Amino acid sequence: MNPTNLSRPQTAFVFDIITIFPGYFSSALKEGVLGKAAQAGLVKIRPVNLRDFTTDRHRTTDDRPYGGGAGMVMTPEPLVKAVSALKEENSKARVVLLSPRGKVFTHELAVKLSRLHHLILICGRYEGVDERVVEKVVDQEISIGDYVLSGGEPAALVVIDAVSRLLPGVLGCRESADSDSFSDGLLEHPHYTRPREFMGLSVPEVLLSGDHKRIAAWRRRQSLRLTLERRPDLLEKVDLQEEDRRFLKEIKNDAKAGRSG
Ligand code: ADE
Repeated sequence: MNPTNLSRPQTAFVFDIITIFPGYFSSALKEGVLGKAAQAGLVKIRPVNLRDFTTDRHRTTDDRPYGGGAGMVMTPEPLVKAVSALKEENSKARVVLLSPRGKVFTHELAVKLSRLHHLILICGRYEGVDERVVEKVVDQEISIGDYVLSGGEPAALVVIDAVSRLLPGVLGCRESADSDSFSDGLLEHPHYTRPREFMGLSVPEVLLSGDHKRIAAWRRRQSLRLTLERRPDLLEKVDLQEEDRRFLKEIKNDAKAGRSG
């Protein structure tokens, strides 16, 4: 048992994915961390073919938009039927529509979702889904970023991956999610492994020192420096120590004086 979340029952976290491309997920869900988590019974990831909930000969899932315009819209009946069928198993499952107009997916949102037990992920296609689906059965819309994908499938995979790695037991201690970028609100420090010299570049001396205190301080400073350079917006939300503030001030002063370090 993983000691990080003893209050969580040891049942699998269920991800149902409503899609017209169930085959899209087959290799991604067999490989790596997700594959292992599924094998260990920590997650159940179930692509559900939307066409199984159609009633016409052509198994139609889309139609032309009322009001005209380009593209097709996903029809409401099969989507609502699919969600209702899945909710029969667990009426409390959270229904998420992957959509570019949703709330932007962040580590914080992944943490919130990881506290649930069952997500039903609807992968939109074409121009979108009939708005009545959103009104009637969707609890939450999520976007993985400000760009448009050709469908919600890659976005569903992103959400499943990010949520799964936060579940107890999914990552071993050696690859703990606690040290990931964003888990403390900062970008992660650089990593090095063998060889010690590579293409004229050496591993920073401090990492070879065996002095764990110095190493931790170096890593923290690298995290702060990278975050300041690349994502200063993140620093506004982080709980910084006095020492962190001093270091950030130093970097800013150095930059003003034209020094780098
Ligand atoms: N479907 C199309 N684009 C998307 C995005 N950026 N996020 C989530 N789902 C999408």
